Amino acid sequence: MQFLRGQLALTIIIASTCALLAQPPGGPGGPGGGQRRQGGFVPGQQRPTGDPAAIARGNSIYGVSCRGCHGADLRGGDMGGPNLLRSMLALSDRDGEKIVPVIQGSMQSTGMPAIKMSEDDAKATAAYVRSVLAMIGGQGKPPSSLEPPTILVGNAAEGKAYFATKCASCHQADGDLKGLATRIKDEKQLQNVWVGGGARGRFGPAPAASSARRTVTVTVTPTTGPKIEGRLVRIDDFLLTVALADGSVRTIRRDGDTPKVDVHDPLAQHKELLIQYTDKNMHDVTAYLVTLK
Ligand code: HEC
Ligand code: HEC
Repeated sequence: MQFLRGQLALTIIIASTCALLAQPPGGPGGPGGGQRRQGGFVPGQQRPTGDPAAIARGNSIYGVSCRGCHGADLRGGDMGGPNLLRSMLALSDRDGEKIVPVIQGSMQSTGMPAIKMSEDDAKATAAYVRSVLAMIGGQGKPPSSLEPPTILVGNAAEGKAYFATKCASCHQADGDLKGLATRIKDEKQLQNVWVGGGARGRFGPAPAASSARRTVTVTVTPTTGPKIEGRLVRIDDFLLTVALADGSVRTIRRDGDTPKVDVHDPLAQHKELLIQYTDKNMHDVTAYLVTLK
C-alpha cells in the first residue's frame, strides 16, 4: 500500500512535470486523474453498454495482459499498475478512444508498457474495463440502463458445429463439459468461463480431471545430456524450477536461451484460440453450451 501510494504520487509528479497526458489539453482525466473524481463528473455512466461477447473476450485478454499489473479486480496489482476503478481516463472512455492508445503505448514513459494486440482486441479489453466500471458505478449496483442485454442471441446448432471443429479435440460435451450449464447457471458467467478457460472451482468443484488438465509442463533441452521433462513450478529469466515424475524437484540456471526451455500451457492454448473467435462464434458457442445440462 505504502508502495502503491508512493508510486501514485510519483506518477502524478511525472505526469504534471512532463505533461505526458494522453488526453487532449483540458480533458478531465489524464494519469492520476482519479484523484479528482470527486468533481462529480462521471461520464462513464452515460456510456452505451458494450457487446457482451466483446466484453467476455476483453475479460480474457485482461486476464492475460493486464491483470498482473492492474489486479484481478482492477484495483491495482502486484506489479505496480494503478487502480483503474479510479482512473478518470478509463471512466471517461466511451469506445476505446481513451484506453486503446494507452494499451498501444501512449503512456510508456510512465511505466505502462505498449501491449501488442490488434485494435479489435484492445477495444474489447477497453469494453471489459468499462463494463467493470459500469458495474461498480452507483454503490456497486449496475444502473439499470447499463444492464447488459441478454447474451443468448446465438444459434445453438451453429455453436455445436463450431464446437465440433474447434473444441472437441480437448473437450467432450458428454464428458468433461457434461453438466456445465447446471454448474454455472448464469449465462454471462458461463460465457466468461468458457472464453477464459475455467473458473477454478468458483462454481462448485470442477471435474476431477480438470486440475490435471491444467498442469503446465516444461521440456528442458540442455546443450549436453538428456532432456528434462516435468511440471513447471516456477520460471523467471534466471531460474527454472521443475518437479520431476519421481517426485524430486530441480532448479536449473537460465542464461538467455541456454538451456532451451519449452513451456506447454494447455490453458494458454485455450486462450490463444481467442483471437480466432468472431463475436458470432462466441454467441453461438455460448448458446450451445447452455444446453449442456
Ligand atoms: C507492466 C505493468 C503493466 C501492464 C502489463 C499493464 N499496465 Fe496499465 N499501467 C501501468 C502503469 C505503471 C500505469 C500508470 C501510468 C501512469 O499513471 O502514468 C498504467 C496505466 C494504465 C491506464 C491509465 C490509468 C490512468 O488513469 O492514468 C490504463 C487505462 C491502463 N494502464 C490500462 C491497461 C490495460 C488495459 C492493460 C492490459 C492490456 C494494462 N494497462 C497493462 C502498468 C501496466
Ligand atoms: C488445446 C486444448 C483446448 C481447446 C482446443 C479448447 N480448450 Fe477449453 N479448456 C482447455 C483446458 C486445458 C481447460 C482448463 C482445464 C479444464 O477445466 O478442463 C479448458 C477449460 C474450458 C472450460 C471450463 C471448464 C470447466 O469445467 O470449468 C470450458 C467451458 C471450455 N474450456 C470450453 C471450450 C470451448 C467452447 C472451446 C472451443 C471454442 C475450447 N474450450 C477449446 C483446453 C482447450
